[in-house]
Amino acid sequence: MAIYEINGGKPLNGSVTISGAKNAAVAILPAALLVSGKCRIENVPDISDVRILLDILEGMGADIHCPESHVVEIDCTAVHCTEPDRNLVQEMRASYYLMGALLGRFGHAHVALPGGCNFASRPIDQHIKGFLALGAEVEETEDYVALRSGSDGLQGSRLSLDLASVGATVNIMLAATLLPGQTVIENAAKEPHIVDLANFLNSMGADIRGAGTDTIKIRGVEHMHGCTYSIIPDQIEAGTYMIAAAATDGNVLIKNVIPKHLESISAKLIECGIDVIENDDSVRVCANGRPGKCTIKAMPYPGFPTDMQPQMTALLSIADGTSFVSEGVWDNRFRYVEQLIRMGASIKVEGKMAVVEGVEQLKGAPVRADDLRAGAAMIIAGLIAKGTTEIEEISHIDRGYENIVEKLTGLGADIRRVDRPEPDGISRAV
Ligand code: EPU
Repeated sequence: MAIYEINGGKPLNGSVTISGAKNAAVAILPAALLVSGKCRIENVPDISDVRILLDILEGMGADIHCPESHVVEIDCTAVHCTEPDRNLVQEMRASYYLMGALLGRFGHAHVALPGGCNFASRPIDQHIKGFLALGAEVEETEDYVALRSGSDGLQGSRLSLDLASVGATVNIMLAATLLPGQTVIENAAKEPHIVDLANFLNSMGADIRGAGTDTIKIRGVEHMHGCTYSIIPDQIEAGTYMIAAAATDGNVLIKNVIPKHLESISAKLIECGIDVIENDDSVRVCANGRPGKCTIKAMPYPGFPTDMQPQMTALLSIADGTSFVSEGVWDNRFRYVEQLIRMGASIKVEGKMAVVEGVEQLKGAPVRADDLRAGAAMIIAGLIAKGTTEIEEISHIDRGYENIVEKLTGLGADIRRVDRPEPDGISRAV
């Protein structure tokens, strides 16, 4: 069992380079299933979710090479399998994008229900609504979703999502790109990774307009071709380092970012009295002592991202004053608060709101990474805290943060990965 051990209290200083966006990569790699031909995808993050996805695609017959780090060449010409490996699919959430991609290319698919972060119930009714609107027949059990073309065939259609779901928007785009006719998604998600997927599909010959707005129009094309494409920088990884710099009273240049994607995070940090200086493709975050309080409401893009809510709460746990953090995307995303309280934070959760009374200092403690972003919050809390913090269940963190120990060490943090014997006495390599 591996843990992260952090000796806190050291300000972060220097510069860090942000990797490609996880949530764009996990949509773009399955999109390569839609073409016969080679796609060269650059700026691919080296994280476990991506490695699992590549294993799934390879198991289905995709020809995959990594000619250099962060570059994946993928050719899905030989793929005929429409039932991806069940065990691998269950290891990650975004494997459900295989449903849309396989339906789009083959007209049928049989995909196990996904795993991944289970901080909340994660229904897929809006994905299914989209597939039905495109003319699919859907069989949904507790274990899998089977899709096939209905009696009238698959075709473009107009539909309105009940809520602006990222996953449903991606899946419908993947399924609709090669179908005859026009698909219109109303109340579509607007996150940067939706735009990135649309740009990738358009580079392969798709005809998708309006990504990044509420209405996405997909005019079906008959063929697509391979392309070269570079994934956008990770908005959430960048935001995590911004908050880590602010929380440790540091001064960090965060490189390879799109500042526009960080606006809601920058605005809140500035409200807390932290300096944020935007450049063309970098931001500098410079703290000014103890942060001030603020009010956060996690919302779909361009609102404050739910995937930054736990990290921001970790920062606010040492703010001067009482802050209010509400969650407007997921039903319950405050499970991690229990761990912050173990470190001396004073936080009360009332339904979808956390009331965070800032304390002067956190203290190191053994804690758990309940999920990916909860794990990032634990790291930030550990960097702030006096003493040693040990974080268990770090595989959640490895799903979405590339080389986090190396990147933080480069900024002056005292963090290391420690391989501990399993309870049965067997030590595993990490
Ligand atoms: N929802 C439904 N029905 C659906 C789909 C979603 O009710 O069919 C609800 C969800 O329960 C939730 C809300 O709609 O309350 C938003 O869910 P959404 O579908 O937008 O989320 P997702 O696609 O499952 C992606 C990210 C998450 C991120 C959310 C919101 C990926 C792979 N995952 O999830 O990222 O929190 O959008 O921005 O893109 C993470 O990276 O740590 C992470 C969890």
